[in-house]
Amino acid sequence: MSPDSHQDPLHELHQAARIDDLSESRGMRVCIKCGDQETPILLVRDGEAVHAFSADCPHAGALLEEGAVCDGKIVCPWHKGTFDLRDGSLIEPLPLKGLTRYPVTLKDGEVFVGLEPQAPHAADKTMLIVSSGAAGAAACAILHETGFARRIVMAGHDAPMPYDRTSLSKFVISGEMPVDDTPPLLDDDFFACHAVERIDSNAVHLDALARHAELVDGRKIDYDIALVCTSGTPKPLDIPGANLAHVHMLRRIDDARAIVESLDTLSGNTRAVIVGASFIGLEVASSLRKRGVEVSVVAPGKVPFEKSFGTRIGEMFRKLHEKNGVTFYMNAQVKALRGGNAVSEVMLDSGERITANLVIVGTGVKPGYGEALRIEHWRVAQQQARIAAFNMAGIESAYDGVPYFWTYHYGKNFDYLGHVDAPDYVEIDGDLGQQKFIAYLLKDGAVRAIVACEHQRAVCRLAEAMRTGLTLESARSTAQKAD
Ligand SMILES: Cc1cc2nc3c(=O)[nH]c(=O)nc-3n(C[C@H](O)[C@H](O)[C@H](O)COP(=O)(O)OP(=O)(O)OC[C@H]3O[C@@H](n4cnc5c(N)ncnc54)[C@H](O)[C@@H]3O)c2cc1C
Ligand code: FES
Repeated sequence: MSPDSHQDPLHELHQAARIDDLSESRGMRVCIKCGDQETPILLVRDGEAVHAFSADCPHAGALLEEGAVCDGKIVCPWHKGTFDLRDGSLIEPLPLKGLTRYPVTLKDGEVFVGLEPQAPHAADKTMLIVSSGAAGAAACAILHETGFARRIVMAGHDAPMPYDRTSLSKFVISGEMPVDDTPPLLDDDFFACHAVERIDSNAVHLDALARHAELVDGRKIDYDIALVCTSGTPKPLDIPGANLAHVHMLRRIDDARAIVESLDTLSGNTRAVIVGASFIGLEVASSLRKRGVEVSVVAPGKVPFEKSFGTRIGEMFRKLHEKNGVTFYMNAQVKALRGGNAVSEVMLDSGERITANLVIVGTGVKPGYGEALRIEHWRVAQQQARIAAFNMAGIESAYDGVPYFWTYHYGKNFDYLGHVDAPDYVEIDGDLGQQKFIAYLLKDGAVRAIVACEHQRAVCRLAEAMRTGLTLESARSTAQKAD
């Protein structure tokens, strides 16, 4: 096909770059104009071939040229969404769909791109997904992508519009995002175009032999294959006063709405206590400080996140929060909450009392069944759901992903790769105090986890390299390649 052989603008080929200007380790963004439309395209060199994809990450819009290309994959700089370099298909969440792939033609060292994207497959079974959270939405997207499901039924409380819980503690509580703008996990177009039935009702009974489910609202569903991913339940605070007004947990969008309502009621006069120095607890602390709320954190242990990150990084988080005005009561437990209708005081086991008119409980979740290894990250839930969905579709798959999560405090994003409980030691390259560092958490001589801030491209590379294991030396050398 010659670069200029078609009249239809979508079929037309557009001169986009010279192949010599493209790199094999990162993509290049070009904008192709067609009429009054501009399409951002990511060009990636792959030996003597060139691939062209949509240039913005389908998850939250990161510019993919700021990520890395390595081991045949394109890795997003923000939450490490990973795509197959050959066809743009999704390998790792957080995105729930792959990149749009555009046709490429090479001629005399010039790269020409067409704007006609490719089409999906056909379908034939009924799949039931009991959940409408992170894993449920990921499974739904994959079942569609594999083309195996004729009918997909998603049943659960959040089914009308599965949403991104992770924004609640970061942006909704801070007031930057109205509750009703919490980002959906699958956009309206997905539901409009695909045979996904959403039922706003939890499942109460599943007969796996008869392949039959019953929902709270009495509906009965016959299915071919079901996926149950109903997650854990937040641990309630089992102490006197836990039911007072303005005492909240944060798990669902309704919890976030209730917290925002409390903040509105208390107006400029809020004194908050966060129970538990968990990721959610401290993200909420950061968000409340953004609103000017006075914040205290009560938690057991010497420093936050000590078990996951070790003492030095835990200390860094504590100092970062203290610098931003948070008061810590560490090695402490909350014994009771006092007040009339609404909370007014928090009693500690030491006998200390903290005046507070808002209490947020961030003490973790109870798992469903079993406890071989609990990793409570968004991306892991979606990675596992993808594997389950591929297996449901008859495409045998095993989990070989690297756990990853991010956490956001005072405008700084921290990446955490891998998993380790109680590392033997921690090597830190960079400046912890300035929050510009990569920390390697070692156990039994291997790098088991990495915590980093402001090293996005290095973390993209490390996320891939960690699949096959890393020593401190190989990890450092992988990180340096990103510079
Ligand atoms: C405020 C907040 C911030 C977070 N921030 C981060 C972050 O920055 N990074 C990170 O990695 N992780 C973060 N997490 C953790 C992340 O949200 C979880 O790891 C992830 O949601 C787990 O996915 P899941 O699908 O297993 O569970 P969920 O997303 O909780 O989904 C479970 C779903 O099952 C439904 N359900 C329960 N019972 C039934 C039933 N009987 N029938 C049908 N449906 C049912 C529930 O209503 C829910 O919709 C955060 C969590 C919260 C609450
Ligand atoms: S923006 Fe790419 S994974 Fe989130």
